[in-house]
Amino acid sequence: MQSDKKKVYIKTFGCQMNEHDSERIAGLMAEAGYDLSERPDDAQVIILNSCSIREKAYDKLRSEIGRFGSLKKKNPGLVIGVGGCVAQQEGKRLLGGGRLIDFVFGPRAIHKIPEIMERVSVDGRGVVEIGTTDDKMVDANMKRDNGITAWVSIMEGCDNYCSYCVVPYTRGREVSRPSNNIISEIEGLASDGFKEVTLLGQNVSSYGKGLSESVDFPTLLSSIEPIKGIERIRFITSHPRDLSPELIDAMAKLSKVCEHIHLPLQSGSDKILETMNRGYTYEEYRKKVDLIRDRIPSISVSTDIIVGFPGEDRDDFHKTRDAVMGIGFDSIFLFRYSRRPNTAALSLDGHLPEDLKIERLEEILLMQKEITSRKNRSYIGRSAQVLFDGQNSKEEGGIAGRTRTNRVVYAKGDSSLIGHLKEVKIVSSSFASLRGKLLENSINA
Ligand code: 5AD
Ligand code: SF4
Repeated sequence: MQSDKKKVYIKTFGCQMNEHDSERIAGLMAEAGYDLSERPDDAQVIILNSCSIREKAYDKLRSEIGRFGSLKKKNPGLVIGVGGCVAQQEGKRLLGGGRLIDFVFGPRAIHKIPEIMERVSVDGRGVVEIGTTDDKMVDANMKRDNGITAWVSIMEGCDNYCSYCVVPYTRGREVSRPSNNIISEIEGLASDGFKEVTLLGQNVSSYGKGLSESVDFPTLLSSIEPIKGIERIRFITSHPRDLSPELIDAMAKLSKVCEHIHLPLQSGSDKILETMNRGYTYEEYRKKVDLIRDRIPSISVSTDIIVGFPGEDRDDFHKTRDAVMGIGFDSIFLFRYSRRPNTAALSLDGHLPEDLKIERLEEILLMQKEITSRKNRSYIGRSAQVLFDGQNSKEEGGIAGRTRTNRVVYAKGDSSLIGHLKEVKIVSSSFASLRGKLLENSINA
């Protein structure tokens, strides 16, 4: 039977933080009486959860607004809202004169969605709620869909002001969430059958700052570890400056904390790191990676790299290239520098032409492809624990999951294995994934 409830279609751009915000938006829209729709054409409300970290993401939003705008011509009753970082940045400018967008809300105003929907239904359009950094993190019922792995937000915002980054302006100052709220959310997830949590924050290693309780990130991890039912704990993102020996100790000791760390390096040149305002030198970064590899030999280390930052000369670029080669990351998210509003880097000298940035990006990409493929090949013949979390859409009877080191693994297997931890033997690999064979008698949690 078809539901005659109102429907909302949510389109998400950008990072995990945004994906997770969309789960909160979906939960709040459900409270406001809306079911989630898979297709924009079936929806009465469309929400675009925007990202402004790089210009490309912003351009994508513009083209989507145009696309959904033409739906609105066919269906004038359609309501379109824009949330996320662009909404925070642009505020009511987004409403423009075109009557395409009806409401705008920033990441700190998500909890006001039910109220916004009320106002839209009364005022028609033009509702703008961008929230302020004083808005505390609010717990909301998420609408999570896979039932196996969940994101859990532990802090919002960022106080680091890296000179290229728009996040402190869009998501505001850093605010940590009280640990008892986090623990009770994870206990709830465990009783709903979730097996893995990923703790989210722009800089998880500084968790606890500003809270009235005395808690830091290693302590938080230790209090999540005993929660029965949760088998794996992950977290993103750690700032290299704040990665402490205590955190490395906690990772080594706590059996549920997975052997993976995302540690954005950004550049291998100390001159560039300084103008980026990153707060560490390449040598300091390198020593932390050595320390963590020493304590946890199977750890996989991923990173973010920006090429073409203002003032990056050939020598700086070579330092980044040598760092990527020397450290041998398991994977890299590679970006070319993009000018963002309000950021300090805008006014630096020495902005580089796009074609040079692309050339540098491609050079590192090619190198990294080789490194990742080599690292993946080293898994062949070994066994690995995999948490299966879905079907492999490209293979009949195929299932997909991840190792503790965050590698994607495909295997042939019954769909009843989805949601379970299994031991597999890795039989082949590519740049992007591993192929495994299920082992008999493997653990089944
Ligand atoms: N240009 C290019 N990359 C950026 N990042 C953040 N801001 C910019 C920018 N202006 C990258 C950084 C960060 C990741 C999430 O996005 O590498 O770690
Ligand atoms: Fe942006 Fe730097 Fe904060 Fe990361 S640590 S969100 S790059 S300002």
